[in-house]
Amino acid sequence: MTQTENEWIEIAIQALEKAYVPYSHFPVGACLVTKEGKLYQGINIENASYGLTNCAERTAIFKAVSEGEREFKHLVIAGHTPEPISPCGACRQVMVEFFEPDMPVTLIGDHGVLKETTVEELLPYSFTKKDL
Ligand code: THU
Repeated sequence: MTQTENEWIEIAIQALEKAYVPYSHFPVGACLVTKEGKLYQGINIENASYGLTNCAERTAIFKAVSEGEREFKHLVIAGHTPEPISPCGACRQVMVEFFEPDMPVTLIGDHGVLKETTVEELLPYSFTKKDL
């Protein structure tokens, strides 16, 4: 792992403290890296209506895309989980919309547990704009 990747991991872990999780008390943090090296932090943002909750990785993606970013090279997601956190299905579908299939995704849990995966590994045989 490169020093840079360590920094991205640190930024995803720091985001955990900002998560808005009054209902689940399950904070998640994310750090999305553009091809130019710009970083977008994301947190999960819950809602009293529960279903409107936005996951940390989608927050990071939507922040970046709404700033005009379209080219990404890495995503880190961190949770206080015994195993590396597993992104939900909705987030995996949003990932395939904006990321190349071979883009690396780093999943972090407590005590430094870590899994390096890719967008395609997380959502194989996905439905994308190529299918339209
Ligand atoms: N959550 C995320 O933010 N990202 C994930 O990948 C998994 C789930 C959030 C949604 C909700 O606020 C809390 O975790 C519990 O489901």
